[in-house]
Amino acid sequence: MIADKNIIKTDFLVIGSGVAGLTFALKSAMHFKDSLITIVTKNEKNECNTKYAQGGVATVWNKTVDTFNQHIEDTLIAGDGICDKEIVKMVIKEAPDRLQELMDWGTKFDKTDDGKYALGREGGHSQNRILHHKDITGAEIERALLAKVKNTPNIEFLDYHFAIDLITEHQVTKKLITRKEKITCYGAYVLDEKTNKVKTFSSKVTMLASGGNGQVYSTTTNPVVATGDGIAMAYRAKAEISEVEFIQFHPTALYNPGEYPAFLISEAVRGDGAILRNFKGEKFMHHYDERLDLAPRDIVARAIDSELKKSGSSNVFLDCTHLNYDAFKTHFPNITEKCLGLGIDVRTDYIPVIPAQHYICGGVNVNKNGKTSIKNLYASGEVTRTGLHGANRLASNSLLEGLVFSHNAFLNLTKRFQKILFHKNIPVWNDSGVVKNMEKILITHDRNEVKTIMSNYVGIVRSNERLRRAEKRLKVLYKDNKRLYDHSELSVDLCELRNLITTAYLVTQFSKKRKENRGGYFNIDLIKKTV
Ligand code: SIN
Repeated sequence: MIADKNIIKTDFLVIGSGVAGLTFALKSAMHFKDSLITIVTKNEKNECNTKYAQGGVATVWNKTVDTFNQHIEDTLIAGDGICDKEIVKMVIKEAPDRLQELMDWGTKFDKTDDGKYALGREGGHSQNRILHHKDITGAEIERALLAKVKNTPNIEFLDYHFAIDLITEHQVTKKLITRKEKITCYGAYVLDEKTNKVKTFSSKVTMLASGGNGQVYSTTTNPVVATGDGIAMAYRAKAEISEVEFIQFHPTALYNPGEYPAFLISEAVRGDGAILRNFKGEKFMHHYDERLDLAPRDIVARAIDSELKKSGSSNVFLDCTHLNYDAFKTHFPNITEKCLGLGIDVRTDYIPVIPAQHYICGGVNVNKNGKTSIKNLYASGEVTRTGLHGANRLASNSLLEGLVFSHNAFLNLTKRFQKILFHKNIPVWNDSGVVKNMEKILITHDRNEVKTIMSNYVGIVRSNERLRRAEKRLKVLYKDNKRLYDHSELSVDLCELRNLITTAYLVTQFSKKRKENRGGYFNIDLIKKTV
């Protein structure tokens, strides 16, 4: 029988500390003043994808030149027919309010000399509409939100706490539950990395805001923490997942072999006029799309991939030599410094770039209120499939998505939170029967293998044969990992590997099921069938 003292009760359990998790926690804490909000995050408090977002947040801010309809249209075009139009409209219309709130909470966005907000441009946008803070927008947003969280007394923030699994009927009834049955989330099992003990959290509401799974690929702009934990946990709990085959590859990561994760050269650089050139120094985007260097990301990434395959060269180049250097340095101080550190002077040298995995467009299905198919489990940010991105996310729409869905989830809870009760009888974590895992190197090997499989077979260009090979190899890895997981003392590495394999498998499975090429999904065997 469960001893209550072994269970930690919290009204709201928030998993993840990026923009989606922090804004949800703040809103909930400020409204439900007598409630406890616990944020768990597996690394340092600010270590998340949000921190690395360079470009900014797309918003119709200057209504004299821009309109909601244009932003909606740009989003739908980038999404290549797969977006949910009502969701797109809702998010874009809500954007200015959410941005104003970020500003009110202390986020500083760049202004021009006349005191107006400086609006940048990125691929797929028909207007300048990206609010940004130099080339470190995500880090600035994180800074402001973390400062506010620190001053909010009913938020408890636990860093180095790794969420292992959600607690649902699976654990409570110990029966095999099918996806069709009504499932409720009652909290989560969380590994305290400092004590290596698993804590059992009982919560009324759980918010999954744990980001994407970029680490399944060898080359990604995502930090090492992006291991698909939320998608994998939700999948194991039998939540609905969709559209995970739509992986976005950013066209311009810095080509710097050995640097890991890849350093991003923001699309805003092309927005300010930089031009892609091939190994001969020739422009090439006019061969691929009339929007040239500012075509949506999927098109630019495939164009670069095709140039690389034709020439056999390792990278293409981004030419900034014709741009005003002072303006460049002001907008992109971080990129300028990074390049200089590698001996690249953007006034005279081209920046070597290659595409790198950047974002997963699908994930855990949520409705407009951020509700998943599991009761009392909400989700927001990259972990979700909301219908906003469709087959290819429009640049700088991701932080916005997190802001809007976390807000809507909070609003929804203002109507129903009081009626939600703790489950009285959840089982504490049971770790009997496990032994210390002596062969840590097996985890490292398997992690590398996942990356190789996904990069070779489930990358920018896929084929039926590649997908078949990926699936076959991932099944072997799954079985090996299950054996390790069932018999070893838990560690973050082991849990991450489990999640990497699960999400890699999901991306492969969903890819196999897709029967036409759209946005970020491109299978050479489907070319003839796609009009
Ligand atoms: C970038 O700065 O190019 C990334 C922005 C984004 O991913 O939306």
